[in-house]
Amino acid sequence: MTVSQREIDNAARAINAGELVAFPTETVYGLGADALNKDAIRKVFALKGRPSTNPLIVHCRGIAHARMFAADWPDHAHDLANRFWPGPLTIVVRKNAFIPPIATANGDTVALRVPANDTARALIEAASVPLVGPSANPSGTISPTTAQHVQDAFPDLLVLDDGPCTTGVESTVVTFAHVTPRVLRPGVLGHEELGVAPFEATSGSDGSSSDPKTSPGLFKSHYAPRARLVLDQDVPGAERLHLPDNAADAARELYARLRALDSTGTDTIVANTPKGTGPIWDAIRDRLRRAAAPAD
Ligand code: TXA
Ligand code: MG
Repeated sequence: MTVSQREIDNAARAINAGELVAFPTETVYGLGADALNKDAIRKVFALKGRPSTNPLIVHCRGIAHARMFAADWPDHAHDLANRFWPGPLTIVVRKNAFIPPIATANGDTVALRVPANDTARALIEAASVPLVGPSANPSGTISPTTAQHVQDAFPDLLVLDDGPCTTGVESTVVTFAHVTPRVLRPGVLGHEELGVAPFEATSGSDGSSSDPKTSPGLFKSHYAPRARLVLDQDVPGAERLHLPDNAADAARELYARLRALDSTGTDTIVANTPKGTGPIWDAIRDRLRRAAAPAD
């Protein structure tokens, strides 16, 4: 951890005062606020320009902390929490009354996660509250994997800089609420390893859903660069996305490379859909498809 305890304490004071702080996680940087403070949560939606129908993930200290906010805690969810927390897994369960409705878009479920990053964990510990933590980017744009990415979009925001994120794509979201346990958002942890049903990209013809039982906010056009992203086609004059051959390296580099190409000012970025197998490549393909989907 490259962040000092002094910086952590300072950030925790800001959180406790109802302010926002960007913090690193192993996946992407998060926009943190006190998950028990509805005014602070309102600021998160406002700063991101996030639709109020898209619920937030609540970041917790550990399993016991997360369970405080759950109305149900199925055995299978517990087993996964035991095996993969801290780590890039978000578990959706039925919520109790502790987390304000605004955080969960008035739904009856809550998404819980224990991040595997020492700075994130120290911040949750020092603030003594769970933190909402959407990715620290304006809604619909590429998630930030460095503190600089956050600062580029939000120059006035306090950012805890712990260097580049090691995983690079957002956590796998798994739901245990209402339905057969299944993946709502692919991530580096795959459905087979988790023992749940796979992700299905079928949440309505426009790819979006406002039904919290399915995949709220998993809008088809998401994670998008400013330039148009075209998959598996050549476009003269376009910038081309190259990814490392190793899946973990590719996931770690994906967003920074898309940003770098975007910042050339090009109109068009082209990419080949990677052919690799396994959950990490599945997650990368998912993000590329979303980035290439036309904005609504
Ligand atoms: O890796 C991550 O998960 C990062 C880091 C910062 O923790 N956070 C993140 O948050 O990606 P965000 O808000 O950008 O994405 C959260 C996803 C959204 O697609 C949202 O719709 C879904 O999780 N989600 C949140 N609460 C949910 C719920 N109660 N039921 C179903 N999906 C939910
Ligand atoms: Mg996001």
